[in-house]
Amino acid sequence: MTDHVPYPMDRSPQPHRTAVVTGASAGIGREFARRLAATGYRVIAVARHEDRLRALTDEIGPGHGYVTADLTTAAGRQQVADLFTRERVHLLVNNAGIAVTGRFATVPLERTLEMMRLNCDALVTLAHAFLARARPGDTLLNVSSTLAYAPTPELGAYSATKAFVTSFSEALWAEHIKSGVHVLSLCPGMTATESQPHPDVPAALVQTPQQVVGAALQALHRRNRPTVVSGTGNKLFAVAARALPRRVLLTALGHV
Ligand SMILES: NC(=O)c1ccc[n+]([C@@H]2O[C@H](COP(=O)([O-])OP(=O)(O)OC[C@H]3O[C@@H](n4cnc5c(N)ncnc54)[C@H](OP(=O)(O)O)[C@@H]3O)[C@@H](O)[C@H]2O)c1
Repeated sequence: MTDHVPYPMDRSPQPHRTAVVTGASAGIGREFARRLAATGYRVIAVARHEDRLRALTDEIGPGHGYVTADLTTAAGRQQVADLFTRERVHLLVNNAGIAVTGRFATVPLERTLEMMRLNCDALVTLAHAFLARARPGDTLLNVSSTLAYAPTPELGAYSATKAFVTSFSEALWAEHIKSGVHVLSLCPGMTATESQPHPDVPAALVQTPQQVVGAALQALHRRNRPTVVSGTGNKLFAVAARALPRRVLLTALGHV
């Protein structure tokens, strides 16, 4: 049997449960893929860089697969959405996301729109493909951010995409609560990854992907809430951001 090949893969033996993880070639998504594989999931990893996906599947062992797709394109989104028509998928981790920083009007518009296509269009497209076929016990996990609660200057469109992700996910949670399909919004705070190393931030305020995914897996196990914020500091931040008067919050964020 070929161990690690692009999807479609050799399907023998059939492991019990299958998870699709987007943005699995790096950061939080890669950690999801590693941990889910370690807990017995067959993982189908999605990202653009095939070399990284192959390295991941080499690492996590036989039976896993990957799909190379650019989720900012309609063709890439469709390619991954089609997976759900061919495969019985029990868990979708909608993790792929990017952050565009800088004053909105000084950043080329196309970069912001591309971010919206990945953070919102791709997440919605794959959520739809997954939920249309989901059965009791299945789970959709959408990776959001604590910035869902904090419209942050110079990250305005990014914060807005994450407010969208959490709001959308929470509505889906309620929509599916009686069906046995669980929808979870994961809100990490600052997490040290390749694209966002946060070098100037005190280490105590930055989590590792391992910590973030650990919190997510606990929440997935409990299946009792629509949203999980990873880490005590991030939980306090989210509570404060929701409690503060808007003007106070926005002024404070403008001075960070
Ligand atoms: N790091 C943080 O501080 C932080 C905080 C809160 C929330 N988050 C959220 O957590 C998620 C993961 O973030 P991260 O920091 O782990 O990111 P990361 O290390 O930059 O990894 C991003 C992943 O997304 C994939 N990706 C990027 N563009 C893509 C595209 N067009 N099509 C398909 N895949 C694409 C990348 O793979 P390829 O390049 O191979 O395509 C990579 O696997 C994101 O949704 C992010 O918004 C991160």
